[in-house]
Amino acid sequence: MADVLYFNGRFTTTDERVLGVEDRGFQFGDAVYEVFKFLRKRPIFLLDHYRRMERGLREIEIRSPWSEAEFVKVMDELLARTEFEDGIVYIQITRGEAARAHFWPEQNEPTIVAYSRAFRFPDATNKERGIKVITTDDRRWHFCNVKSVNLLGNAIAKKAAQRAGAEEAVLMASGFVREGASSNFFAVKNGGIVTHPLDEHILPGVVRDRVIGLALSAKIRVDERPLREAELFDLDEAFITSTTQGVMPVSEIDGRVIGNSRRGEITTELQTRFDQLENM
Ligand code: PDD
Repeated sequence: MADVLYFNGRFTTTDERVLGVEDRGFQFGDAVYEVFKFLRKRPIFLLDHYRRMERGLREIEIRSPWSEAEFVKVMDELLARTEFEDGIVYIQITRGEAARAHFWPEQNEPTIVAYSRAFRFPDATNKERGIKVITTDDRRWHFCNVKSVNLLGNAIAKKAAQRAGAEEAVLMASGFVREGASSNFFAVKNGGIVTHPLDEHILPGVVRDRVIGLALSAKIRVDERPLREAELFDLDEAFITSTTQGVMPVSEIDGRVIGNSRRGEITTELQTRFDQLENM
């Protein structure tokens, strides 16, 4: 089934081939993207995603194609045209089409693509069971705070996880944990949570930020610091966060069981609070 597609100011479906081969998103990965979730056609944390996308565009000097109000209007219409109730919207903004050359034209019309897609979010069983993860080298560039479409490093890591029978890869550099290939990573130790600080090595996850807020309001200690590899195997609990997975417990890291292999107390508390927030 074709999905509703917004392309450069008009609505069509994903059946239509819209992109030119000299689009810089295709040629150079010269683009940013966003993924937001909707439930009963209600977008979740829409403006958090809009703001991160705007920051990314600014960082790589792509002209923003829309104001906040224009963005909200387009997304509302996209969801109104969508035939299912729950899913995700994928948005990509590229620097646009130009004759292939590394130097980009100073004035270029960005390409905008956005489409909705049905998505099976984790159910109660998945959320209780959690996921297995592996650790692997972080081979990405040093601009991971921008949600750019350069995801080859992430895709290679994720494929390695799949081949090892795991669901996520935790990316390591110089003996420290950074984040997941498509999620942020949290450790739980002695009643507090630890996660990598915001810098060029991780994506400032929308869920990460919300979960930190929820932890603080629940009086759970939050430590934003890089976690040492050795600490990984002495954790009480661990979980990852992302738009599609929410708060997802980690049951095993590289085949070693975390905690008592069951979803831990703090993870459960934050997962419950986060699910409530999404459904508010
Ligand atoms: N992935 N880190 C990376 C590298 C990610 O790709 C993602 C999200 C996150 C979590 O960010 P957020 O909480 O804003 O979803 C962290 C999206 C969902 C994806 O690529 O599909």
